[in-house]
Amino acid sequence: MPHHEPPLPIPALKIIPTEHYTSKFLSTAARHRTPSPIWGLFSVEDQPGMISMLAGKPNPATFPFEHITLGMRTPDRGALTTLTLSDGELESALQYGSTSGVPELVRWVAEMMRSVHVRGEGEGWRVSIGAGSQDLLYKALHALVDPGDTILVEGPTYPTVVPILDAIGCGYAVVDVDGEGISTEDLARVLEDWDTNKPFPRVLYTVPYGSNPAGMTATYSRRVEVLRLARKHDLLILEDDPYYFLYYGEPPRPPSYFSLEKMLGGEVGRVLRFDSFSKVLSAGFRLGWLTGPDALLASIERHSAVSVVQPNSLAQLIVLRLLKEWGLPGFIAHTARAADFYRARRDVLHAYLVKHLRGLAEWEPPTASMFFWLKLKLKVKVQVEGDSTAFIRDKAIARGVLLLPGATAFPDGRTTARVRLSFSLLSDEEMEEAVRRIAVAL
Ligand SMILES: Cc1ncc(COP(=O)(O)O)c(C=O)c1O
Repeated sequence: MPHHEPPLPIPALKIIPTEHYTSKFLSTAARHRTPSPIWGLFSVEDQPGMISMLAGKPNPATFPFEHITLGMRTPDRGALTTLTLSDGELESALQYGSTSGVPELVRWVAEMMRSVHVRGEGEGWRVSIGAGSQDLLYKALHALVDPGDTILVEGPTYPTVVPILDAIGCGYAVVDVDGEGISTEDLARVLEDWDTNKPFPRVLYTVPYGSNPAGMTATYSRRVEVLRLARKHDLLILEDDPYYFLYYGEPPRPPSYFSLEKMLGGEVGRVLRFDSFSKVLSAGFRLGWLTGPDALLASIERHSAVSVVQPNSLAQLIVLRLLKEWGLPGFIAHTARAADFYRARRDVLHAYLVKHLRGLAEWEPPTASMFFWLKLKLKVKVQVEGDSTAFIRDKAIARGVLLLPGATAFPDGRTTARVRLSFSLLSDEEMEEAVRRIAVAL
């Protein structure tokens, strides 16, 4: 696939020093976080010759499982093969493990990040596996945002981060988004006109591929400009990218921010990246991973060590076996098939929207992920464009169709005529019927 080429010459890389994260970015809670008294000693346990009487690890001889066997398809969904975990591997799968993940899986994922995002070793980043990217986001936001801070978010933003941030008690600077991503004009305006009586934002949260809910993928030039502004104003970019592998727009695909900071040269370490196995392998495994500077990952791991303790060992060992069997090319081929699947589903829904909702709604077909972001032409105008929350509550549900109200994606309390339609699970018939019901409700 062709790539975007950065301008030449590329300045030498400069890694942001650890001290900058601890003094500038970490929240008060993160600074006060101490290591788990037991989990903090696990690396000592691993020293050769050590007899460990440290942890309360159960003896697997008391467990009822002899082996775990799963059937799985090859990446092209061809032959059915079986995968069996037994003996030492089964013991590890049923035992406590490292908070940052099964070391071999961490190495596999780090190698994938090097290859997919063209990053090298010794550039101030590492990988940590977590219990899904939602949990990693929750912990990252607690590690970076204090009550009374203001966080920069896209308008619309991923609705499920809003309750996290509301509970932290921060304010929001909602930056406009259009079909190309974050409006850098609006972002620059927000930052440059900042009221100096309020603490300056330190964090920008973005979903750059197939953004949930808008379905938009940020273009290369927007990303370059966002990164330039982040460097100028000393912001961290939280790159939440569970739909990275579900891109089905035109090539070349834009680089991730994690990739871009190296491509452009100069300072690296401004990006904390969230990836997920949920959308491509299994959502129920609850596995995601973080990529970024050690100082930030270490703080998030301290949080995990005293909450979920570690990502699920069994799920990690299943994924590791699968990835080793497939190799990186097999994994990429599998994700490409998944992206093709969603492209085809998007096309079906788009056709039904054109058939039933032309003149009743506006939309841009998404280029990644599984959502349409419709602007309804509502008859009852509560404010300027109408209120889709009331429409869904009073009309759509009564007609048997459930949509996500757009207002959930705007943490500043505005009303909107937007709704999010998820098209991942519905059959053709269900899609047409759903769209027909929306049309009747309108
Ligand atoms: C933008 C975004 N971030 C994070 C998540 C959470 O993903 P996970 O299943 O890895 O926790 C989702 C899931 O829908 C999402 O859309």
